[in-house]
Amino acid sequence: AETHYHNFVIQPTPVKRLCKTQNIMTVNGQFPGPTLEVRDGDTLVIKATNYGKYNITLHWHGIRQMGTPWADGPEYVTQCPIRPGGSYTYRFTIENQEGTLWWHAHSKWMRATVYGALIIYPKLGSSYPYPKPAREYPVLLGEWWNRDPMNVLKLATITGAIPNVSDALTINGQPGDLYRCSRKEIVVFTVDAGETILLRIINAALNQQHFFAVANHKMTVVGADAAYTKPFTTNVLMIGPGQTTDVLISVDQPPARYYMAAHAYNSAPGLKFDNTTTTAILEYKSASHSAQKGHLSRPILPPLPAFNDTNTANAFTVQFKSRSKVDVPLEIEENLLFTVGLGLINCSRPSFRCEGPRNSRFAASMNNVSFVLPTRNSLLQAYYQGTPGIFTTDFPAVPPLEFNYTGNVSRGLWQPVPGTKVYKMKFGSRVQLIFQGTSIVRIEEHPMHLHGHQFYVVGRGFGNFNPKRDPANFNLIDPPSRNTISTPPGGWVAIRFVADNPGIWLMHCHLEFHVSWGFAMSFLVENGIGEKQTIKPPPLDLPQC
Ligand code: C2O
Repeated sequence: AETHYHNFVIQPTPVKRLCKTQNIMTVNGQFPGPTLEVRDGDTLVIKATNYGKYNITLHWHGIRQMGTPWADGPEYVTQCPIRPGGSYTYRFTIENQEGTLWWHAHSKWMRATVYGALIIYPKLGSSYPYPKPAREYPVLLGEWWNRDPMNVLKLATITGAIPNVSDALTINGQPGDLYRCSRKEIVVFTVDAGETILLRIINAALNQQHFFAVANHKMTVVGADAAYTKPFTTNVLMIGPGQTTDVLISVDQPPARYYMAAHAYNSAPGLKFDNTTTTAILEYKSASHSAQKGHLSRPILPPLPAFNDTNTANAFTVQFKSRSKVDVPLEIEENLLFTVGLGLINCSRPSFRCEGPRNSRFAASMNNVSFVLPTRNSLLQAYYQGTPGIFTTDFPAVPPLEFNYTGNVSRGLWQPVPGTKVYKMKFGSRVQLIFQGTSIVRIEEHPMHLHGHQFYVVGRGFGNFNPKRDPANFNLIDPPSRNTISTPPGGWVAIRFVADNPGIWLMHCHLEFHVSWGFAMSFLVENGIGEKQTIKPPPLDLPQC
């Protein structure tokens, strides 16, 4: 195993898109940021230095961080932010993970521009469980804002208004040529006829789930969230923010230029969102030669499902399975049911800054708790040092009130209560967690992400979860292993995992405007026995609040 050293310099960088130059935050002047390439078992040492004007932290999305909770990165959860002028070195080892992950800023909306791919190859001497592709490309889906995303965020949190939609969706930082003033802003992936390529698709967008397709080419899904999957073939995929999907494509069509395209998947009726289409080009080499001779034909656009096509999204998601039988926890010690969704909060609550309409604003919650980050310390540091008053451990295991979650819920029924609450679990607990969507305010899909763990997605359905009937249909044989999974709109999803990693682990909806409204909570996994199961002292350069 190797140790890889990197310097990540966070700095304002002028970047031109859609005919306007923005000064955006980047790592090392690159947008998207550098691709990290490692093998399973390797160690990464990344020194992050902040030359920007905002606080920042970095998160290695999907990395298990076994024994290294201090390197996980969410601001005020496992560390205080790196202040302008400050630095912090993240050090962690990849343990039994292979495939595609990514890294991103984990402070307010900084991840709008501070993100990149993290690719984990098999250990030396071992190989993919499928034929080696001729080429591999990371494909990062993102969003572009014609202004500072941090100002957009202010709007979202102070007024509780739906933030303005982004100005373009992007593939590898480029909007593609279907926007006004973007003719040259398109990524071209060059391929040779007859070969097979691997796309490592990452949804790094702030607020959009995506449908993605490549004109005239089928995709064979072989992995997701750094775990191999049972291969299946599809024309279109749905990918939520935070998720990754690895697909093989046979380059077997008449030589030409084909668009790959993505647009939003948004199940919430009446919600404003970026409804534009981002593109890149899959270009056969022989076609690029004729293109140079001047026969540049317009690429073919793939059909994409309608923005609100929940059936297609769901039909795609349920196809995921692990490659073979996996070790799903069967006996459960922690039986959790979390309602997930939005609510409206009354602005007369003193702890809520809000200038929203009708004296209320949006808030998001799980089990009616709207998560508030501490500011005086990080949760992990407070726990490690035994500092009282930073958080409480009374996050409820089940909703405080039972009702028809997905039925006709009156708005007055439930207003989220702000709090910094964690749910405490013994080391090694076998956990079943149901995310139950609600129809408070509106029905929509939420991509739920758990830090520091992989979980098995054992079940999924529409309506209210039925504890008597639904578990009979759980897949306890070969469910997919993920770090982010969407709850279907007006439905539920069931996950199981073992809490085998002592520390404090954030769990949240990966739609960033929902996080800003409090859509998060944290698990506290207590120490086990022995050095390997105990939280180690923090690195000396851990930023202080
Ligand atoms: Cu990808 Cu807490 O995030």
